[in-house]
Amino acid sequence: MMPGPYLETRMYRRIKPATAGQAKPDAVAVFLTAKTKTPPAGLPQTDEVKALLARATTSLDAGKVHPLYHGKAKPGLTLVVGLGDKAKLSADTLRQAAAAALRALDTAKAKSVQLVTDALPAKLANETAGNALADGMTLANFTFDAYHGRTKRPDKPSKPIDLSVQLPAAELRGFKRGLKVAEGSDTARTLACTPPNVANPKYVANYCKNLAKKSGLKCSVIDQTKAKQLGMGGLLAVGAGGSTPPCMVILEWAPAGTAKDAPVLLVGKGVTFDTGGYSLKPDGGKGMKYDKCGAMNVIGAMQAIANLKLKRRVVGIVGLAENMIDTHAYRVDDIITFGNGVTCEITNTDAEGRLVLADCLAYGTKTYKPAAVVDYATLTGGVVVALGKKIAGVWCNDTKLLRALEKAGETAGEPVWQLPLNDDYRKMMQAKHADLHNSAPVREAHPIQGAAFLSYFVGTDAPKNMPTTPWAHVDIAGTSNTDGCTLMEKGPTGFGVRLTVELIAGM
Ligand code: BES
Ligand code: ZN
Ligand code: ZN
Repeated sequence: MMPGPYLETRMYRRIKPATAGQAKPDAVAVFLTAKTKTPPAGLPQTDEVKALLARATTSLDAGKVHPLYHGKAKPGLTLVVGLGDKAKLSADTLRQAAAAALRALDTAKAKSVQLVTDALPAKLANETAGNALADGMTLANFTFDAYHGRTKRPDKPSKPIDLSVQLPAAELRGFKRGLKVAEGSDTARTLACTPPNVANPKYVANYCKNLAKKSGLKCSVIDQTKAKQLGMGGLLAVGAGGSTPPCMVILEWAPAGTAKDAPVLLVGKGVTFDTGGYSLKPDGGKGMKYDKCGAMNVIGAMQAIANLKLKRRVVGIVGLAENMIDTHAYRVDDIITFGNGVTCEITNTDAEGRLVLADCLAYGTKTYKPAAVVDYATLTGGVVVALGKKIAGVWCNDTKLLRALEKAGETAGEPVWQLPLNDDYRKMMQAKHADLHNSAPVREAHPIQGAAFLSYFVGTDAPKNMPTTPWAHVDIAGTSNTDGCTLMEKGPTGFGVRLTVELIAGM
């Protein structure tokens, strides 16, 4: 089966926002915290409901859904969706509850629903709540079945059914915002799922050109020839053995009046497949189609930023390369030179992401003189060991940027945790026959080694000391995909899209 040139996001339901009370919905979903005494408006005063509320302490656990059916009259279905303990209530609880509600509504084949939230604390009221509800519903709504063939999908792919969601006006505003951001997350997740025999550097670059036309972004591509002229030895080395040549894609959002502003620069690692190269991964790289997630999430974030028409100039640069074995592939012992003149001895072809990012960071900071730089990369297995799959590692040379990222991460439900970087770690990356090596001869501090390596590239020239551009490196190797959780099915998470939107919106 050959899918179209660019895969569309598949979803269980096409979520449409509507104002509450417009029409009688098929279902009502009432979000309740435990120990709720009086049923809020929208919840029928039946014995079943009273019994449920009496058991409220245990049965209104966060994300637990109780369907109550009332026959044919509309609304025929009431979902009581647990929010758990009121004192512990957070935006994340709302997201998880909304995700559970979406699944129940899908199973019940409801085409319209009214969402009712119990009295929420002020920090979670109205727009914030609406946004979180949209996050949860859209995250659970995503699926990837473009390659389900004869056995899994014998008929024509079915069109997703509309689900009209009614909310009061203030919540609805937040809900609509959430839906706009979700388009970016969906793009990131669809691209991430797209297999490496389709989503190679050329495919992703073409996807970006197409996306830019649709969403009001500017798009330019530094192809292999141009990259050679610019001396981008890192990008070129990693992609030398790939099935299509490596390239760099630049997406720019510059709303009226911001063309001369110093932009925020986003950088993403887009290794469309990571075999490890000649330092071959023992399992051949199963799952390494997700090694492009940093880049896909930057692409998704750019789409979301344009969708929201944020009043800030933002430049997104993604480095795209396929790390393969081939006659032209780079080797261990090679010495390469980056666009900023820094040289590097290759000690491990599997530490390739930093080589791609190095050229993106050096080119991006020199060309755009950004006010701040944030890079996203599935850089090291070590960060997964250190922090697991829910929190990303962050290194940052600027306290203000770090605090802003931490806050944005909390708000968006995509949290980051700071890890250290100093001159001792930076020295670990210095080599005898070149300025740097891409992996130190010792295994210790692997995730920090990655950050230390990158710190030689965020500035106009190869900086001798810590770079002066406010810069954060976010290692999303753990958070970029999930084995399946309350919010999402197994696969990529889009981690970084919502975080970036919050960061830029708050600047
Ligand atoms: N893409 C991997 C990192 C990775 C590992 C992402 C697991 C997601 C899950 C990266 O290119 C890599 O192979 N890193 C090496 C670095 C080492 C060779 C210095 C690693 O983490 O082992
Ligand atoms: Zn690798
Ligand atoms: Zn990699």
